[in-house]
Amino acid sequence: MARVHVIANQKGGVGKTTVTVNLAAVVADTLGGTTDSTPVLGVSTDPQASMLEWAQRVGEALPFDFDQCHDRPEVLSQLRQIKRYEHIFVDTPGSLEDEGILRTVLAQADDVIVPLEPEPMSFSPATRSIQRLVEPAGVPWRVLLNNWDPRDGEGDLAQTREFVAAKGWPCFNTVIRHYKLHTRASAEGVTVVQYAKNRVALEARQDFFKLALEVLGSQNGAPRHASTAEGQAAVNGVYATTEG
Ligand SMILES: Nc1ncnc2c1ncn2[C@@H]1O[C@H](COP(=O)(O)OP(=O)(O)OP(=O)(O)O)[C@@H](O)[C@H]1O
Ligand SMILES: [Mg+2]
Repeated sequence: MARVHVIANQKGGVGKTTVTVNLAAVVADTLGGTTDSTPVLGVSTDPQASMLEWAQRVGEALPFDFDQCHDRPEVLSQLRQIKRYEHIFVDTPGSLEDEGILRTVLAQADDVIVPLEPEPMSFSPATRSIQRLVEPAGVPWRVLLNNWDPRDGEGDLAQTREFVAAKGWPCFNTVIRHYKLHTRASAEGVTVVQYAKNRVALEARQDFFKLALEVLGSQNGAPRHASTAEGQAAVNGVYATTEG
């Protein structure tokens, strides 16, 4: 059964789509997908469909399978029944209006990643999402500091770490730094695993490899959701499944 990783924060523009696409790409690349078969599925639940546009621009080189599912509640409510993949990474909307979608996928989550930008304006909206939706989901979750520009100095990062620590929120050790490469990747139709082979690209990519290790390293114990025959039947109609 797939492990479902949901990337969520109702504040817009914090890096949900950037993290979902690049983390899915690194995990697929690392676990050894082929052109015919990949262990990773990326799912967009965002009606804005920015992940879909990005995936289309990457085309055949996308190392994971992708599906746009914001209008397919029958799939979203059964994500954990999908057997064909080892990992499913779910991008979610950055708006308060689409809370129903978010609740549906959080009920399917094995873990939740909450991207947070290291700047005080981001704190209140993140707190709201965490308290209202993420914590009540009752699954492991962690804050991910994203889009920190080292050229701005350590001040904002330190302040954000203090804020997170004061809240008692679990947090990834990895910080995803700001790189123009990431900002341009969607328009250029690439993911981190296709970045050029130079030092800056290597550094940019490294953050996502470190993050992938933290995400994969925390797979302890059995998934919390039991599968149901009806669930599998419903999903088998959408995704061909292979046992084992
Ligand atoms: N680590 C980073 N380095 C550089 N640019 C980044 C980084 N993270 C995010 N960005 C840029 O910030 C913008 C917002 O990121 P993204 O679209 O991933 O956020 P989002 O949370 O999915 O937004 P929305 O809520 O609108 O769906 C994009 O232009 C993206 O390229
Ligand atoms: Mg997005």
